Amino acid sequence: MGWIGAVEQYEGNVWEIHPLIVRADSRRQGIGRSLIRDLENCVIKRGGLTLWVGTDDENNQTTLSQVNLYPNVWEHVVKIRNLKNHPYEFYQKCGFVIVGVMPDANGIGKPDIYMAKSLHSIDS
Ligand SMILES: CC(C)(COP(=O)(O)OP(=O)(O)OC[C@H]1O[C@@H](n2cnc3c(N)ncnc32)[C@H](O)[C@@H]1OP(=O)(O)O)[C@@H](O)C(=O)NCCC(=O)NCCS
Repeated sequence: MGWIGAVEQYEGNVWEIHPLIVRADSRRQGIGRSLIRDLENCVIKRGGLTLWVGTDDENNQTTLSQVNLYPNVWEHVVKIRNLKNHPYEFYQKCGFVIVGVMPDANGIGKPDIYMAKSLHSIDS
C-alpha cells in the first residue's frame, strides 16, 4: 500500500524521509499520515530529534515555481499557495513546517522545498 524510509544524518539527531510513496489508488485515506506516524516513533526510539524532507516542485504545483525567488526568498515562502496538489500541504497536515527552499534545485524555476518536524519538546 505504501513505502516509507529515512536516512540518518547529523549523528542521528536528524533523519531525512526518503522515500515516501502511497499507491496511487489508495491515496487520501490516511495511509501517508500513518506511515509518517510510524516513522516518527521509530526515529524517536533511536534518539532522533528532527524529521525532515525535501519536497521538489518540478511541475509548477506551487507559487514557488516558475518565479525568481531571489533576493527575498522568505517573502515567497510565507505566501506559498498550493496550485496543483503539491505534497507540501500533506506534510503541513502531519505537523511539518517549511524551514527552507533551494531555488532552481531541479532546473530554473524548479525549487526543492525543505520541511521539518521536531520530535521532542524543548521544555522537556
Ligand atoms: C504525498 C502522499 C504520500 C500522501 O499520502 P496519502 O496517503 O494520500 O495522505 P493522507 O491520506 O494520509 O493525507 C493526510 C492529509 O493530507 C492531505 N493531503 C494528502 N495529499 C495531499 C496533497 N497532495 N495536497 C494537499 N493535501 C494533501 C489529505 O487530504 C489529508 O488531509 P485531512 O487530514 O485534512 O483529511 C501521496 O499522495 C503520494 O504517494 N504521492 C506521490 C509521491 C510523493 O509525492 N511523495 C512525497 C515526496 S516528498
